[in-house]
Amino acid sequence: MGQKKAQSIGIFDSGIGGFSILKKIHELAPDLNVYYVADNSFAPYGNKSKEQIIERSLYITEELLKFDLDLIVVACNTATGMAIDTLRETYDIPFVGVEPFVNALSKHKWKEDDKGCVITTDLMSKSERFTSLISRLDPKKHFSYVVTPNLASIIEDFFSSKNEEKLREELNKELSFVKDNSYSHLILGCTHYPLIDSYIEEVTGASTLSPCLYVANRTLSLLGREKDQSGTIKSSFQFAISTRDDVLRFVSKDFSNLP
Ligand code: DGL
Repeated sequence: MGQKKAQSIGIFDSGIGGFSILKKIHELAPDLNVYYVADNSFAPYGNKSKEQIIERSLYITEELLKFDLDLIVVACNTATGMAIDTLRETYDIPFVGVEPFVNALSKHKWKEDDKGCVITTDLMSKSERFTSLISRLDPKKHFSYVVTPNLASIIEDFFSSKNEEKLREELNKELSFVKDNSYSHLILGCTHYPLIDSYIEEVTGASTLSPCLYVANRTLSLLGREKDQSGTIKSSFQFAISTRDDVLRFVSKDFSNLP
C-alpha cells in the first residue's frame, strides 16, 4: 500500500491561546500537519475593532493558504465572533470556529445551586454572533457574562516570565468578582484561558469548563476522521509569530513543547 498523504490544517490566534485547542487536536490526531500563526504583533485582539479583526483574519488566512491546507481553525473566540462569517464568505476552505463552547454549557450536568459565569474578552462580549447565541441558548440569562479585559495578556506574560507569584496576584485582581458573586463555574470564553485553568480554579475556587475538546472533535469530523487514522504517517508542526514587518516566518517545532 502506498503512503497516505497527511492532512494539514492551519490554526491562528492572537498568540498562544490557540495552543489550548491545538493540544486537544494533536492528542486526537497526532499525524496532522499543523501550521500555527501566533499573531503577537497585533495582540491582544480583545481591545481592537471588528473591522481590524476582520482585516487581520483575512491577512493571516491569505498567509496560511500559501500552504496546501485541508481546513483552518480560528482558534480564538474573538476572531470567530468578529470574522468567521467573512472568512467563510471569502474562501472555499472549511473554517472551524470556537462556537462549540456552547457545548461546554449544554453538556455539563448542572446542579440546582450551581452558578455559572462565562468570561470573555471585551470585543467578544460585543460580537453579534455571541449575543445572538446567548439569546438562543440562554434566553432567561441563567448564566452571567463578564468581561475579563486583561486576562489574555496576563496569560501571555506568564508564559514568557513563568512568574507564578505574579500570575496569582494578577488573577486575584482580575477575577475577584468570582468569589464576590459566589460563582461555582467559569466557562472559559477565550482560548487563552484554558492554558491556566488550574491556576484559575486555585485562585477563584470555581470549576472551569472549556470548549477545546468540542472544537477539536468538530475539526476532526470536518476532516472526515471520526476514528484515529494516525498509522505511520509522520506529522510536522510549523509555527510563526507575526512581527512588525508582517512577514511570517514558519519554523519547525515539536508538539511536546506545547504549554
Ligand atoms: N485567544 C483569543 C480569544 O479566544 C484572543 C485574546 C486576545 O487577544 O484578546 O478571544
